[in-house]
Parts: sequence; structure tokens; C-alpha cells
Amino acid sequence: MSKDDILKTVVLTMIGAVVSFTLSLLLQLIVKAIKGDGFKSENSYCLFSCLISVIGTFVALPFYMNIICKTVFKKLHIMFPIQFKNIRILISLFILITANTVLNSGSIYAQSIHSEKSVQKRISTDLFGVFFEDINYAADGGLYAELVQNRSFEYSPADHTGWNPFTAWEYITPGYAYGNISVASNQPVHENNPHYVVLTIEEPAKEGVGLKNSGFNGIPLISGDTYLFSIYIRQLAGSAIPVTIQLTGRDGKVNAETKIVTDSDQWKKYTAVLKAGATDDSASLVIIAKAKGVIALDEVSLFPQNTYKNEPNGLRNDIAGTIAAIKPRFIRFPGGCLVHGDGLGNMYRWKNTIGPVEQRIQQKNIWGYHQSVGLGFFEYFRFCEDIGAEPLPVLPAAVCCQNSGGSWRIGGTGQHGLALQEMGDYIQDVLDLIEYANGPANSVWGAKRAAAGHPLPFNLKYIGIGNEDQQSDTFRERFKLIQEAVKQHYPAINVVGTVGWSPDGTEFTQGWQFGKQQKVEILDEHYYMNPDWFLRNQHRYDQYDRSGPKVYIGEYASRGNTLYNALCEAAYMTSIEKNGDIVQLASYAPLLARKGNTQWNPNLIYFDQTNVYPTINYYVQQLFGNNSGNRYYSHIVTGLNDSSIAASCVTDSLTGDLILKIVNVEDTLHMVHVNLAAFRNLEKNAVVTVLSGRPQTINNVTGVTNILPVVTATQTTKTFDWNLPPYSFTILRWKQKSKQ
Ligand code: AHR
Repeated sequence: MSKDDILKTVVLTMIGAVVSFTLSLLLQLIVKAIKGDGFKSENSYCLFSCLISVIGTFVALPFYMNIICKTVFKKLHIMFPIQFKNIRILISLFILITANTVLNSGSIYAQSIHSEKSVQKRISTDLFGVFFEDINYAADGGLYAELVQNRSFEYSPADHTGWNPFTAWEYITPGYAYGNISVASNQPVHENNPHYVVLTIEEPAKEGVGLKNSGFNGIPLISGDTYLFSIYIRQLAGSAIPVTIQLTGRDGKVNAETKIVTDSDQWKKYTAVLKAGATDDSASLVIIAKAKGVIALDEVSLFPQNTYKNEPNGLRNDIAGTIAAIKPRFIRFPGGCLVHGDGLGNMYRWKNTIGPVEQRIQQKNIWGYHQSVGLGFFEYFRFCEDIGAEPLPVLPAAVCCQNSGGSWRIGGTGQHGLALQEMGDYIQDVLDLIEYANGPANSVWGAKRAAAGHPLPFNLKYIGIGNEDQQSDTFRERFKLIQEAVKQHYPAINVVGTVGWSPDGTEFTQGWQFGKQQKVEILDEHYYMNPDWFLRNQHRYDQYDRSGPKVYIGEYASRGNTLYNALCEAAYMTSIEKNGDIVQLASYAPLLARKGNTQWNPNLIYFDQTNVYPTINYYVQQLFGNNSGNRYYSHIVTGLNDSSIAASCVTDSLTGDLILKIVNVEDTLHMVHVNLAAFRNLEKNAVVTVLSGRPQTINNVTGVTNILPVVTATQTTKTFDWNLPPYSFTILRWKQKSKQ
């Protein structure tokens, strides 16, 4: 090789190396941008890899050049004896650049997959939400603020053995009065609300004849608070009848009182506001007629005026506030098994739950009580809006629960589907729901929303079809009809399908096959497992096919309310964040339970008539809800084992904050190493929130023994070691430095 040759080769190699380096870097960044990983300079490993390859090019390419020039072109020259001295330089260069670009890009891409260095990805912005089911008295006697139980005399033995229209009511004749009471159903307030009480006052004596209702284990009153009373009365005999309304205390003393006088032989609504003179956790509502005559009474209601956001027909402030404090990104409603119901006649029909409350169609609750549906679809949508959560209504897939007539424990008489000739009307109901939520105020169903006081749309984007349904032909045929109609009329709506009641098995597998085949956007997985299952299964979603349906983990819980359970759930939730690109939504279940009226344990929030008792599991949900992000980074924390020591790292583009969540489910202090080199402009100060304690502690009582998150502050450097207390969940949160 002549001096000239060497010089030429070196120059060519340098140009080739620089061009190929630039091209491969550009290619890599473009790939990353398309994949959603952005042009982040923290991909320093990518830069490093390119530099290595440039050095490699300098060292190795002179030899390749020589070989190419001396062999390939020599042979070509023999075969085609044309003069291509200049072209050969260009061709050599082209071959080198192409080969090197491909090699560099390939190696960088491979590194981005396999590297132990940080990889980032976008994750769902709706990831953590709540699952509301009317189970455990979550609606009537729970979130719904109505204080009167069985307000419209519709309880029946079908709801619960021994129940009847008088359940929760007491006929009272103080002061030697007498009369009688009966239930009637001719000419009711509304045909959907057939039963009412007829009160005959034969002799009112000094104190009258009437009715008493003590709500759900006593009506709670707060001194100075006001309560909105309302009643429908029709005068059947006699002239104007004075009726006294009282709130009486646990001791029988009158706490608040008002009077109305009947003046119509047609159903008329009377209202009054009562102000509590004293706080009482177990008061009663007394309605007492004080003149001879006969009156019909229905829809007797007492609401605290102080409902959540002061909405009429609203929600209990304390319970709604506790849910809102989770900052859930969505609310699923109204269930669970409640959705598909106990027999076809018991399927949840959303249209029965809107409009004036006295016109709604009530029905038995699959969990062994009654649904007044006073908390209906309008109120659910309104609550979602009030707390900034996406609504996720779930409707039956036109089949009833496979356990109908039995229970989820013992099984039942099997799944039934609506007759196919009824499917047209049923599908229309589903489509009407979307119009009710999203249609303009002058559309048929949008007008009903507007009439309820909400002319603007609720911006529904998800709709669930079915809940844990058996994957039978009956189910599939109906699901397919509904799903295809939804997609045809509302292509932007994401349908959430169902894949059974366990994390694996036949229903699960068949559900996924069917969901994929139907191209359902999201599939709803449910699992109630032991805490250790949650520790062991943190890689569950790592291998899920990213090109198929996304996942909604619609119901999960680790069968207990101890700190240990809560930490296992927290560890699992870090893996949900890690897989937030495929897991779109996740919600612990069930959400609410009234103490003394539970059909299911454990639950996230317990309550009674006066208090709310968030569990430790609740605080885990709350901490995730309040510290969510939309971009996930791997490998920021080292020293984990993805089981009992787990972590996730996210950033939130709204606040610019960086959030680390680290869980230690071991009984010893554990040190991890944190490397924040990939993040620029972070404040040194971090907020530290820790939930820790003895593993078997439970919280659902009021008291000082409760485990609550403890917030402190710290200062950190780019890399640091962090000690995790035994049995702890730690969140570290940094703000961005302000730009001035
Ligand atoms: O969350 C309680 C019940 O568990 C739900 O109603 C049902 O979907 C599941 O089996």
C-alpha cells in the first residue's frame, strides 16, 4: 500500500465514521421518537455506544477499505474493464457508511432493550382509579346521603327474607291516639314506585298517629346543620290535616321540629328544612298526623344539606371526600356482580336509574338487600366530574350472572341471555347511554341529562360490557352484537370486555382469545389472591403482547387489611406502573363497606353512620393516586429483587415532578441505591412519605394505633443510598427547579 493509498483510506474512514455515527444516532432517535420515547439527552448510553463504534471504525475500517479496494474492485475491474477510479471511492464510502450505520443502530437498539441502564416509556394517564359497587350498603346507607331507610315503602321479601314495605318503619300512636296503617298501590305517586302507606287517624288524642324511621341504624345529626325533609302526601279523607315532622334524639327528646298542613287530594310534594339543635348519632325521623282523617304517604326523604359539593340528591360528604382524596383517575360503577344481576330480570338497567327519584325503578340488590337507585347514573357521572375522574360505567352483556339463584361461593342455576329478538332494544339502551353522556343537549338522551341539570356532556370515553361472565356462546353472541354496534356508532369509545374472575384458567384464556379476536380495546381482569401471590407475580405483565388489547385490572385485593397485605399490594402496584403502557386502568375492589352490613371482606374503606375508617390498603391507593405520573423510568433504583423489595420511578408532565416509590416487604432495614443522573434541573429537596409499622396491624378503627403516611423532607444528591425501614412503603418526590 502506497503512502497515498494509506492517506486516502484514513481520510475516507474518518468521513465514513463521522457520517455513519451521525446517521446512526439520528436513526436511533427517530426510532425512539416514533416509539414514544422522545429525544431525551439522558440516553447517554446511546451516545456512548456511538462513540465506541466510531473508535472501532477508525481502528478497523482501514483494513476493510483495503480489502474492498484491493479485492472486490480489482475483480470487478477484470470483469468490467472500465475506469472507475473515482466512482470506487464513492461506492466504498457508501458501503462503509451503510454498513456502519446499520451496525451502530442495531447495537444501540439492542442495548435499549437489554441494557441495565434506564429505559423510559409513556404510561397510562388513567392508571389508578376506583371500583364502586353497590355491595356492603355502599350506595343506600352509604355513599348516597339519604338518611331515611326504605323511603318509598318498596322493600319486599324478594330483597331479603322477612322484609316488607314497613321494614325500617315503626307505626306510632303516642298519647293514647289510635288509628291504623296499611300499604296500598292504586294510584301511586308514579307507576314505577307502586307502594305507599295509608295512614288512618281515628283518634289523634294529644299527640297524633304516625310513623317513625331510624334510618340505617340511627340517623346522625350534627348540631346546627340543616336537613332537607320532603314527603309526598295525598289526602284521602277529612279536611286539611296538620302533620308534625320531628327529629328526635336517641333519648326520645325532640331535636328539631316543623309542621306542614295537607291541602290536596292529589299527590303533592311538601318540603321543609330542619335545623338540628344537638349532635346525635342515633336520631329518628317522626311524622305524626294530628287530626282525624286518612292520608297516603310516600317518598319520605331526609337529606343533610351539607352533601358533597352541596349537590342536591347528593353524596355523603365524608365518604365522597375520602374517595376523592385518592385522586382516582376513573370511577367504575355500579359493580361487579350487581351489573349482571341475579337472573335476567335483575340485570342493572341504567335507564331505570335516572330522572326524578320517585320515578326510578327500584329493585333487589344481588347482595341481599335493596337498591333504591337514588344514586343512579346521573349521580355517578356527576360524582366523576366533581372529582375529575373518568366515568367507567359497566353494563350487562345481556346475560345474567352464571351464579344466579345461588351465590359466587356456591354457584347457581346458570347463565341466561336475553332472547335474540330483544337484543335490538337492548343494544339501543347501550347506545342511548353514550348519547346520554356525550350527546348534545338537544339530542333525545342528551336532553334528559340537561333536564337533570347538566347540559354539557360528561365526555365518556370508556364503557364496560359484562362482568366476569362465563365465556359461553350465549355470552359471546350478545357481547359481539353490543360491541360491534358501539364501535359502529361511536368508534372513539373504548370498549372494556371481561375475562372471568381469576388470573388464569379457562375463562381467562378463552376470554383473552375472544377479546383479541374481537379487537376489544381493553380487557377486565379480576383476581383476589393471597398477599404472596402479589409479590411473586410482579412480572405478570412484562411479557403481555403490546399489540393486542390493553388491560384493566378491574378488581384485585390481597385478602386482608393488614399492613403486610397493603405492602404486597403496593409492591404489585409498582409493577403495574412499570407496565403502565399495557395496563390502562387498575382498581382495588371492593371500595366501600358499611360496618355490620358487609357481604364481602376485605374492603378499602369502612364506615358507619358517623365515621369513615380508611384501611391501610386505602393509604396505599391514596399514595399511588396522589403520586401518579405519565412516564416510567426503569433502573433508577438498584438493590431491588422485584418481589419483596420493589420500586418504580415516574415523572409527571403536569407538575414536572419526579416520583420514586419503593416498597420493603421484609422484616429488616434494606438499603437501595438511587441514581438520578438521568434527570436534569431537579431540586435537591425531596418530600418523603413513609407508611410503615408492624406487619399485622389493621386500621379500620378510629384510634391512635392507626398506621398513617408520615411526611418529612430530605435533601439528596444525584446518586445516593436510601435506607428502607422494615415493612415500609416510601415515596420520594422532587420538584423541578424553577426556571428564573
Ligand atoms: O368485588 C366483589 C365481587 O367480586 C364483584 O361483585 C365481582 O365482580 C367479583 O366476583
